Amino acid sequence: MTEKIFIFDTTLRDGEQCPGASLNTNEKLEIARYLEKMRVDVIEAGFPVSSPGDFEGVEIIAKNIKNTTITGLCRAVERDIKCAWDAIKSAQKPRIHTFIATSPIHMKLKLEKTPQEVLQQAVSAVKLAKSYCPEVEFSAEDASRSEPEFLYKVFEEVIKAGATIVNVPDTVGYSQPDEFGQLIQGIKKNVPNIEQAIISVHCHNDLGMAVANSLESLKFGVRQIECTMNGIGERAGNASLEEIAMALHTREDFYNKSTNIDTHYIYPTSKLVSRLTGFVVQPNKAIVGKNAFAHEAGIHQAGILKDTSTYEIMKPQTIGLESNQLVLGKHSGRNAFKSRLLELGYALEKEKLNKSFEQFKQLADKKKEIYSEDLVALMSEILVEDITDIYELKYFHVNTGNSILPTATVRLKKEDKIFEDAACGDGPVDAVFNAIDRITGVKVKLSDYYIKALTRGKDAQGEAVVEIKDNGRSFVGKSISTDTLEASVKAYLKAINKMLVQLNRGLGSQKKID
Ligand code: KIV
Ligand code: ZN
Repeated sequence: MTEKIFIFDTTLRDGEQCPGASLNTNEKLEIARYLEKMRVDVIEAGFPVSSPGDFEGVEIIAKNIKNTTITGLCRAVERDIKCAWDAIKSAQKPRIHTFIATSPIHMKLKLEKTPQEVLQQAVSAVKLAKSYCPEVEFSAEDASRSEPEFLYKVFEEVIKAGATIVNVPDTVGYSQPDEFGQLIQGIKKNVPNIEQAIISVHCHNDLGMAVANSLESLKFGVRQIECTMNGIGERAGNASLEEIAMALHTREDFYNKSTNIDTHYIYPTSKLVSRLTGFVVQPNKAIVGKNAFAHEAGIHQAGILKDTSTYEIMKPQTIGLESNQLVLGKHSGRNAFKSRLLELGYALEKEKLNKSFEQFKQLADKKKEIYSEDLVALMSEILVEDITDIYELKYFHVNTGNSILPTATVRLKKEDKIFEDAACGDGPVDAVFNAIDRITGVKVKLSDYYIKALTRGKDAQGEAVVEIKDNGRSFVGKSISTDTLEASVKAYLKAINKMLVQLNRGLGSQKKID
């Protein structure tokens, strides 16, 4: 039996923390459901004190996800810890994750505290967290640039205070694998009560070492790895979950360790995260990049045709990637649709199934061949629909050409009222966006906008991603359609709705702390 390594997923916290990635509550819950299906051991669902929106996301995930430990991050201060506990207390398996920086640079320049003060604060925080929750994780932020002797002392004292997991972050992605391994070895040797806690690592990717550092640390007794889907996260990101999981799966012979991850959910989860955050996965990204299993060179193709093991060390099916499977078409019935959805992991109750079937039929009218990826895209659109949308698109019409000024008419519904207006613009998209601005009265800056083909074929579905900025905060809207103009209009309206929902709920406050 190989030793189990716990996978702690922080896509919804460290991943969501990067600029432009902001997700609404439904989207967070949908990602959490996939993480649960993929059998990660811990979901870090957010940083509850950082904004009411974060609190709400963590609380809803804690209430809905039953089989996975749910944690919320908090600084080592009373207000944060209480708030984190309030957000996660209804989870079946709650964990409080508290942190304070331990490196000389952070203690002196950021916290303006002495090491002694930091030590005391860490211990008090863990004691308070423990009074609420049996499972407490303590992170020594910037551990890799901390004085090892001080780090040993902090870990020893927080374990005495009740920490059950001690986490070693390479916060700024500075460490090299050998060095990081030595740090873990030092902790293992010099913290007298270390056997009473699980050692965890949390590596950032500034020098491209996040996965290498995480895997190296396993040699020295680490039992939990913190990572994110597609490696998203602050700056250059975090260690990528799919790379860690597949390295341990493919090279179990080398590591002699395994995880609980159901690898078949890796690809669908990666797609979902990319779609909902709007962060495109680079084509050559290990495991989940679009080229990760594509063989272009003739000599490779010849080898693959003879035997896939010539150039393939993993099977695409292992990560849930299907090869060219035509799934359904316009004549497919409800049962075929339902059973294909079940195979893809969607068990829908009647109402949702009916709605999805209707939309599938509409799609099948426009698009002859429907693949699994079309269904995954359709489902993620349906399942994360924001029920709190303020404006609903009823209709748009654009007059355009290469010799006229593009003009658009848009009709929106808000509560029971219909609003209509028209505007012109530099192009058809600009004209519709301007008409929407006139109706909603919002003044935002369009900071990003792109369209990409989401599925295969000439009639592929296009996904439009729109990012708008208001007072320094960004809101991303995404939508898919076989008509790219329609996708763009819906994506823009989604971004505006997100912004208005947050403003209406008073959630427009500065989100990030630290
Ligand atoms: O990178 C980091 O140090 C963190 C901690 C809060 C765990 O994200
Ligand atoms: Zn981090």
